[in-house]
Amino acid sequence: MSKEFDVLVIGGGPGGYVAAIRAAQLGFKTACAESNPYADPKGEPRLGGTCLNVGCIPSKALLHTSHLFEEAGHGFADQGISVGTPKIDVGKMLARKSGIVDQLTGGIKGLFKKNKVTFLPGHGSFVKQAAGGWEVKVGAETVVAKNVIVATGSKARHLPGIPVDNKIIVDNVGALDFDAVPKKLAVIGAGVIGLELGSVWRRLGAEVTVLEALPDFLAAADQDVAKEALKLLTKQGLKINLGVQIGEVKTAKKGVTIAYTDKSGAAQKLEADRLIVSVGRVPNTDGLNAGAVGLKLNERGMIEVDGHCRTNLPGVWAVGDVVRGPMLAHKAMEEAVAVAETIAGQAGHINFDTIPYVIYTSPEIAWVGKTEQQLKAEGVAYKAGKIPFAFNGRALGIGATDGFVKILADAATDRVLGVHIIGAGASDLVAEGVVAIEFSAAAEDLARICHAHPTLSEVLHEAALATDKRPLHA
Ligand code: FAD
Ligand code: NAI
Repeated sequence: MSKEFDVLVIGGGPGGYVAAIRAAQLGFKTACAESNPYADPKGEPRLGGTCLNVGCIPSKALLHTSHLFEEAGHGFADQGISVGTPKIDVGKMLARKSGIVDQLTGGIKGLFKKNKVTFLPGHGSFVKQAAGGWEVKVGAETVVAKNVIVATGSKARHLPGIPVDNKIIVDNVGALDFDAVPKKLAVIGAGVIGLELGSVWRRLGAEVTVLEALPDFLAAADQDVAKEALKLLTKQGLKINLGVQIGEVKTAKKGVTIAYTDKSGAAQKLEADRLIVSVGRVPNTDGLNAGAVGLKLNERGMIEVDGHCRTNLPGVWAVGDVVRGPMLAHKAMEEAVAVAETIAGQAGHINFDTIPYVIYTSPEIAWVGKTEQQLKAEGVAYKAGKIPFAFNGRALGIGATDGFVKILADAATDRVLGVHIIGAGASDLVAEGVVAIEFSAAAEDLARICHAHPTLSEVLHEAALATDKRPLHA
């Protein structure tokens, strides 16, 4: 006998668990299948997907610990605090991180109970179209559901000839779990993971060299911000080599040797104790048996969807990293809610133009909307207001004066088109930019809103004033 549901979600990451909770809230009989190897104390797969287990949450825990370590070693003295030379207990740091992961992943199981979502531990794969929906195998069970939401996420992309063992050569999984600080750490890919996890281990004492194929640093970010980030991260000690081509990678018991050509074409060799490969992610669609039901994938293996996350099959939806768009947890969650609400006959809305991007380096980098290079390419006439954090009293008080806020507004209508921040608290400050763009605000609107003093948000206020060449404190 197969189990029957209104909605079956395959995958329990931010896309999947949020879709399941929202569908259940809307009154649907809902189940969620999850099959990852990260077992909880009961031996069941943990919920939360990449984000909670080996992504957003553990990386931010390590970023915080390593930030405090760096402050204790290099920042406290300026404020008259002496603590001697700080020491890091890597085991304790990792245990704290794991504790946070335990708490949050267990919390989702609690949310499933509260919202009456049935948790189905096991791998989900399509069988066939059946009377009343779709037949899906979950572990040893057969489930029939009217609607199936595929939220199977992504995994690290690996490179041919560079075998990841998650000990010497690691992807995000191993890079969050080194049992000691490597003396020399190499990173392939100066993207988000390379910069965040490269920063973690550098702050703790590793000599970190990042090898990036592209000639431009952070090509997707506003190039003004990218330039500042490259300057600041390099000053902190990250060695970032752009425009390289990776050659042979040889591993030995103790480390790894990476041959590469640098941007001038000269042959180089880098020796390191550990290597992080962070060159993007690939969708998890290989185990779905998509072919059995004719579920359409694109040439990169992603499930093809329209702007409402509908696949080519009636009643089959897909959200999160497994579909087009940025691979971000909050984008997955937005799509998840929209799909559940669309199934319920509601308006299910996703605004892809207001998805914020954050890189949790120090200083943080965050943006929403268009970059200057995009506006130029589109031929949009714009004005820019740019204010450094160094002019802000709060930034001085907390000793975080690096960076700036730049607001881009339409030259004719004054509408805010982009907000770009590099500086302390950027991850939270960008929310004001998201609200502004979502509500089609003008820069004048931001300029006329009262911002608390002294706060970092005043830099945003001043940047809005600066688009009209009338900053008060700069
Ligand atoms: P996932 O989280 O990948 O979840 C998919 C789940 O489906 C997995 O648990 C998987 O086991 C399960 N699954 C797969 N196939 C099947 C199957 N056939 N049957 C059953 N279950 C299956 N994003 C941010 O927004 N902010 C950040 O700070 C951030 N930091 C990150 C740091 C790192 C190191 C990494 C790697 C990623 C980070 N991300 C961050 C990205 C974020 O983790 C992903 O965008 C997000 O997890 C995507 O959610 P998802 O639900 O689509 O997929
Ligand atoms: P990424 O796409 O951010 O960066 C990959 C980098 O590797 C790029 O700069 C690319 O040019 C480079 N690259 C690709 N092939 C290469 C090669 N052969 N040699 C040298 N360089 C090469 O991918 P990353 O860092 O792996 O992260 C994956 C995704 O996870 C991100 O795109 C993001 O969606 C998500 N993420 C988000 C975070 C956040 O929101 N703060 C944090 C970490 C990850």
